[in-house]
Amino acid sequence: MLHIGVDAGGTLVKIACEHEDGAISFRKFRSSDLTQAAEWVDAQPLRGNLCLTGGKAGLFQALIRREAGHVIEFEATCSGAKWLLCREGIALPSFLLTNVGTGTSIHYVDEHTHYRVGGTGVGGGTILGLSALTTGIDDFEEIVRLAAAGSRDDIDLTVGHIYEGATPPIPGELTASNFGRWLQTGGSRRKEDVLASVIGLVGETVATVSVHAAGQSGAACVLYIGSSFVRNELLRRVVAGYTELRGSRSLTLPDGEFSGAVGALLSARNADAQVPLACGPEGR
Ligand SMILES: Nc1ncnc2c1ncn2[C@@H]1O[C@H](COP(=O)(O)OP(=O)(O)OP(=O)(O)O)[C@@H](O)[C@H]1O
Ligand SMILES: [Mg+2]
Repeated sequence: MLHIGVDAGGTLVKIACEHEDGAISFRKFRSSDLTQAAEWVDAQPLRGNLCLTGGKAGLFQALIRREAGHVIEFEATCSGAKWLLCREGIALPSFLLTNVGTGTSIHYVDEHTHYRVGGTGVGGGTILGLSALTTGIDDFEEIVRLAAAGSRDDIDLTVGHIYEGATPPIPGELTASNFGRWLQTGGSRRKEDVLASVIGLVGETVATVSVHAAGQSGAACVLYIGSSFVRNELLRRVVAGYTELRGSRSLTLPDGEFSGAVGALLSARNADAQVPLACGPEGR
């Protein structure tokens, strides 16, 4: 192993490794298993550098034997996202980066600069917490699997529901009130439906905040990253649908949830040699 970048987040620890042959591989641990993640990193025969980022980077450093470099989370996330875009052959003059992690953080990024535009406490942690609270299900994969089979019709109130029989001034399929129909219809208690509405609430909130931020910053495209999107087709669909309805372009990336870890890996590598980590096919 050459270099390792670690993004120790509020829920998951993401690790990006550069191998001797230039290949990049990824690995994930739960943040509640931080010791296990630290033991794994300690066990790697590392020829190069280790760099950490994320809110739990300090805790992670305390658990490992070697002294690691540190890079600011937003710095790492933005540089890693740029690298992943480049790997996909996507060139964007500027974009908004919305990281739906435990919470949601939004950044403006262009060739020369990046800055935090804002965020919302509604994010992946909300998916887990609200799902557990309403249905008792706390496993992310099960939440996502069940939500995919759900219907929001008896839970969420649309503009069309309010304008019943009349022509609404805005598209009738837009959500007027998340969970707002639940009392009116006697409500569905089907776990699938409740979970679909939880994901709808998170997706629509994140997309709404993002399109407003995109409008203010002049970015034409919103790149959505974070583990909340992992195998979560429903969240992707909700977010893309709303973002595009509001006139922005929506994008997700393979391995987008590893942006912070890739950014940390880039820092680990730059500390050693002034050679940029290739992002073309040979850098995969
Ligand atoms: N295996 C999993 N276990 C728990 N949550 C998961 C899992 N896979 C995806 N998720 C979702 O991803 C979210 C965490 O996303 P991510 O890893 O990007 O955040 P983080 O980096 O840990 O948090 P933050 O950046 O806010 O500190 C969870 O809140 C959950 O909704
Ligand atoms: Mg994170």
